[in-house]
Amino acid sequence: MTSNETMIGRADVDDIDAILAIANTDVDAVVHAVRAGSDAIFTWDYERTRPALSKLYEKAKTSQWNANDLPWDTEVDQIAVVQANRLQNDAIYSQHNVKGSPVESWGEDEWIRFAIESQNWTLSQFMHGEQGALICTAQIVETVPWIDAKYYAATQVMDEARHVEVFARYLDEKMSGHYPINAHLKMLLDDIIADNRWDMTYLGMQIMVEGLALASFGFMHQMTTEPLLKQLLRYVMSDEARHVAFGVISLQEFYAQLNATEIRERQEFAFEAAVRMRDRFLQQEVWERMGIDVRDMVQVQLKAPDRPIFQGMLFSKIVPNCKKLGLLDAGDGWLRERFTDLGVIEYEDWADTSAEYSSLDEVARDRAQLA
Ligand SMILES: [Fe+2]
Ligand SMILES: [Fe+2]
Repeated sequence: MTSNETMIGRADVDDIDAILAIANTDVDAVVHAVRAGSDAIFTWDYERTRPALSKLYEKAKTSQWNANDLPWDTEVDQIAVVQANRLQNDAIYSQHNVKGSPVESWGEDEWIRFAIESQNWTLSQFMHGEQGALICTAQIVETVPWIDAKYYAATQVMDEARHVEVFARYLDEKMSGHYPINAHLKMLLDDIIADNRWDMTYLGMQIMVEGLALASFGFMHQMTTEPLLKQLLRYVMSDEARHVAFGVISLQEFYAQLNATEIRERQEFAFEAAVRMRDRFLQQEVWERMGIDVRDMVQVQLKAPDRPIFQGMLFSKIVPNCKKLGLLDAGDGWLRERFTDLGVIEYEDWADTSAEYSSLDEVARDRAQLA
């Protein structure tokens, strides 16, 4: 039995010292090298035997869009945007929750500045995460042994390049600052890339990171009043839904022939990824930049009574997809217990993405309307 220490480097998931000990040390470096663990695989079997992947590939070819076609001339007033967008911050950092913390005496100006930094940080993490997806999917093209999956993954590489492009451009032209990659996100991406089992790239990226991204983009898309960001997110989500479906469809077939020990390793990897992503949302770099004690503010967030609602929502795609893959209840229901502890199990019966990806394709809907 693998202990919490071995999986996530600490016994208690909420151990603040251990969370803060994970810090980004090379923030000024321009490149970061990770040794990929897997072999590049040729297949000589060109037979198209996986109709679900074929269908996804056809859909991807007709739902491509050009980043240049977004309304980039939209004027963005970031203060107005964050003011309209404060629901989540107001709930987590209510007067009651911040009592006795370093931000207790903050007035409107400080909270606005925080909200702006927080938006710069969030979009920066989206951009870095998208680059992680670009690299992981290029890796899947090399490592997956099925021709239909190589074809599909190649379309996803193009999608991810476009996603990095749109977030980078939005940050440069419309926001007021950048952040380096969050240390927890970086650790997770490095782990995914370094793993030598091809299916772990899918689990880490398509199921966990992209599942969280899909929910998170959906949440921001609903909240934001800024029309350019709204459309950008809506188009990125159309692609992301396909990407998550790619993960579910591929892993369903592969997991069917794994033994109990191998499935347990996948459950543990899913748990590790969930914890890293939870930790990244504590946004420690923002507090650092604001000159506020990070430890105090991580504590405020971990204790905020409303935090589980927002945190849970981010897992609303991951949990049903893990259930569909049989990971929740395999063995002794180990992952179900972990997701229950993290407060996210209530989403288990929401739609899984292999069933709903077509309904999220706004690009196809827009094209049909124009035709
Ligand atoms: Fe993406
Ligand atoms: Fe993606």
